[in-house]
Amino acid sequence: MTKPVRKAVFPVGGLGTRFLPATKAMPKEMLPVVDKPLIQYAVEEAIEAGIEQFIFVTGRGKTALEDHFDHTHELEETLLGKGKTDAHQVVLDLLPNPGTVFYTRQMKPKGLGHAVWCAKELIGDEPFAVLLADDLIKTKGDCCLKQMIKVHQETGGNVVAIEEVPREETFKYGVLNVTKDDGRIAQACGLVEKPAPENAPSNLSIIGRYILQPEVFAELEKGNLGAGNEIQLTDALANIIPSVEFRGLRFEGRRYDCGSKLGFIEANLAFALDRDDLRDGVEKIISELTSK
Ligand code: G1P
Repeated sequence: MTKPVRKAVFPVGGLGTRFLPATKAMPKEMLPVVDKPLIQYAVEEAIEAGIEQFIFVTGRGKTALEDHFDHTHELEETLLGKGKTDAHQVVLDLLPNPGTVFYTRQMKPKGLGHAVWCAKELIGDEPFAVLLADDLIKTKGDCCLKQMIKVHQETGGNVVAIEEVPREETFKYGVLNVTKDDGRIAQACGLVEKPAPENAPSNLSIIGRYILQPEVFAELEKGNLGAGNEIQLTDALANIIPSVEFRGLRFEGRRYDCGSKLGFIEANLAFALDRDDLRDGVEKIISELTSK
């Protein structure tokens, strides 16, 4: 029997340099896709997957994130006073239950592995999820994390979301060295973080959703530096294979890389086109802009 996945880590300490100047004074996780910040999509996905505790690994200049998931009494009272009950409900609905949100700070930008390690006391000895908010995943059925939790219940071990990427883009991802692959779940005997295309063991890449066993913390504790001179989560997961098996799930859904400008624009279009109140207007704008 695998233990249930109750806790999720959101590493939100990154600088967001790819979106400067927008992210100079605003966390990149607060960039909106249509009208909702990226981090809220990730938290909603975690809630849908049954997560009960939300752990944010933050850094300097990230207080907007904490404020977003808290009451704003003045705003709430003003909305009520003006009879804007729908908007009032929108700001109430996004609040997680009291006592379920935790913040810890990554005091130095030492990489994703280090950010996850910062949550170790809050996680303790149980499996947990990690969600990277800039990978925004749109699904028709179960959300990506829920699909992964179903796999994890059967297999245990570490389970990550994977997808095939063009070989020339492997340098952006953690890449699997696959031993078994049934077309849906790929088991790996090794992983390489951000390999050059010619050194990549495959083009199956890790997307920003993980279900991890607590054994990863002892490996991260060693503080080994990897790609980019950072403590890499991918390396720690690779180093504990085979004692902790590693599987990747080709999830059902579409992932938008909101860490890149084109991916972010694409996500905005896709999510807007999916909304009854916006579809017609957006289609009109696209056709006008592209007909010139
Ligand atoms: C991180 C991970 C990488 C993973 C990617 C998914 O990289 O280190 O293994 O493939 O997220 O988005 P980053 O995008 O933070 O450079």
